[in-house]
Amino acid sequence: MTANLHQDRTASPAPEPGYDVPARVGDPVSQVATPALLIDLDAFERNLDRMRAQAAALGVALRAHAKMHKSADIAKLQMTRGGAVGVCCQKVSEAEALQRAGVGDILVSNEIAGAARAERLARLAERGRIAVCADHPGQVATLSRAVTARRAETGSDGLTLDVLVEMDCGGRRCGTGSVAESVALAKAIDGAPGLRFAGLQSYFGRAQHIYDPAERRVALDISIALTAETRDAIRAAGLACDRVTGAGTGSFAIEGASGVYTEIQAGSYAFMDADYARVRTPEGTTPGSFEHAFFVLASVISVPGPGRAVGDAGLKAVAVDSGLPVAHGVPGAAVTGVSDEHCNLSDPQGRLGLGDQVRLIPGHCDPTCNLHDWYVGVRNGRVECLWPVTARGKVF
Ligand SMILES: Cc1ncc(COP(=O)(O)O)c(C=O)c1O
Repeated sequence: MTANLHQDRTASPAPEPGYDVPARVGDPVSQVATPALLIDLDAFERNLDRMRAQAAALGVALRAHAKMHKSADIAKLQMTRGGAVGVCCQKVSEAEALQRAGVGDILVSNEIAGAARAERLARLAERGRIAVCADHPGQVATLSRAVTARRAETGSDGLTLDVLVEMDCGGRRCGTGSVAESVALAKAIDGAPGLRFAGLQSYFGRAQHIYDPAERRVALDISIALTAETRDAIRAAGLACDRVTGAGTGSFAIEGASGVYTEIQAGSYAFMDADYARVRTPEGTTPGSFEHAFFVLASVISVPGPGRAVGDAGLKAVAVDSGLPVAHGVPGAAVTGVSDEHCNLSDPQGRLGLGDQVRLIPGHCDPTCNLHDWYVGVRNGRVECLWPVTARGKVF
């Protein structure tokens, strides 16, 4: 029974009770083995609906970032109910896992290194819609070699990989460093056998998390102007540049309304973590007004003294790179620290007793998801579904 679950982690089997699953469908939430990833399905669905409506109102396509959740089930829901045209992945292995599980349209919104990985990407392009980013002619040459080699091996002359130029619009991560470099790279892609120039990626990660709306606006205005200048220069060089993709949960409304971006890559909107709840719009709301739909469910395993409780979710269950998790729904309670397997809670009103469950909102959802095997979807106090974290550990 448990062996089967391990053999096929991509097909979302209805898991049987066993050592490897935190819950069974139909269980009351109180019986979920903790720590576990909990999805409030009603809130999650409202988030999908909200983003679908907002992207439609902005007139841009949504390409949801699946690195956030790494789940084929969630990716498919984003593409059906949620209106997404496809998803983004950050790694080739992540794209492989999602494609194998039936996700047909993936942008690897990142650069990849080495011939072996380029070959794996070329194989993915044989089976579904795949695109990737580049910011250096060396990557273009490697990708072109991989695709032409696959063409020769398979006799498929039509095999083509879509490649986007990634420009640095302020994030100081990957991306070309100047307009001229972007134009030269777009031309190199256009002229490379087996590749098709497929547009521009311009993603400003740091801006997503600028809490102050005026400061965020200033940063994004600069980046949007640079993005428009780059797009126009590529067009002036004679290439079509119909796709400009980027943005995330903290900024999509601004890039989406700019008239420059055609596609937004938000991911965290589906779950909403504690850090995004600190980002403000000029109206004082959070961007998109998404709800917390995602929690690490913990249990109180010790109440060592007055006003104190200890939960069973530590560093192995919740990421703390964006701050400590926030205790949800227990008035006055707060997480004060985490160690490997424990979280310390202050509980001045003495509300927490042994065995009580606490919902923790992680500071950052992406690295938290990658710590677990399963999502437990709940509605009306009961477990409705178990979804595997399909691409857990697929960071290569
Ligand atoms: C390239 C790229 N696009 C989009 C996103 C999505 O951002 P978020 O989950 O913050 O909405 C990320 C996240 O880091 C990213 O790296």
